Amino acid sequence: MMLTRFARPKVNLFLHVIGKREDGYHLLESLVCFPKSGGDKLWVDPAANLLLTGSGPYSETMGEPADNLVLKAAKLLQDEFGVSKGAHIHLEKNLPVASGIGGGSSDAAAAMHLLNEFWQIGASLDTLAQLGARLGADIPVCLHAETAMMEGVGEKVTPVGGLPAVFILLVNPGVSVATPTVFKALKGIGGNRRVRGYNDLSSEIFIESLQSCANDLEAGAIGLVPEIADVLQALKGCKETELVRMSGSGATCFALFKTEAAANAASKKINKGHPKWWTLVSGI
Ligand code: C5P
Repeated sequence: MMLTRFARPKVNLFLHVIGKREDGYHLLESLVCFPKSGGDKLWVDPAANLLLTGSGPYSETMGEPADNLVLKAAKLLQDEFGVSKGAHIHLEKNLPVASGIGGGSSDAAAAMHLLNEFWQIGASLDTLAQLGARLGADIPVCLHAETAMMEGVGEKVTPVGGLPAVFILLVNPGVSVATPTVFKALKGIGGNRRVRGYNDLSSEIFIESLQSCANDLEAGAIGLVPEIADVLQALKGCKETELVRMSGSGATCFALFKTEAAANAASKKINKGHPKWWTLVSGI
């Protein structure tokens, strides 16, 4: 039996840092969505031991299998539920790594769902999310894999229902960014400015309310990786962009559009001007 699942990119439509815990982790409020197209793809096949193989445009950047979050998540499930069987996990890596769109976390979350089924563990989503939180702050929201508010240090996830029809263009300049360094570069901690009732809003009001929010990590990340400012500027230079912002700890940035045609036209313009940058257009 072979199982397969997509690991969608995770986008922080806004990310407010509202506090800091004594252990150094930051308290967040973030509206997270998972664009419907694109992403990494995982397969699970029977095997005597745990094995991770890779393919796809970013497989070279996956690092040592033992350090990969996918294998860490698999080992955690084995230990927690006394699983003696192995699995061959194949990861088609289409998303840039260390790029603020949760590639590694989304892969680990997808692997947890697949192995929960493959090994017939039967753990609930809440149980998986509690376990996943031990491996990374973004893993609980990636296990939900639907539009949600993420709070606490990431462990509190509240799905918010569907968003109005909006299209996203994601752009990554090919520079990886270390999340801890970006959190260290954060200057000051913002207040609570969240918007509510997303699914009741028209796309105009939804985008307008997002405009009053921010990614509090953006300024510090630009200080560390100036290319992020270039990406933001290139996106702002496209026609019909409604909102331009960085996702997570960067360096991926995004623009929102009311139509798919406008998102595609912007993507074409960015690809022409910056052929080495990674882009993805999707509905959210
Ligand atoms: O949990 P994860 O490994 O994804 O986090 C990477 C780093 O990002 C943490 O070690 C921490 O420095 C920072 N972080 C934080 N507050 C969060 C999430 C991550 O300070 N809520």
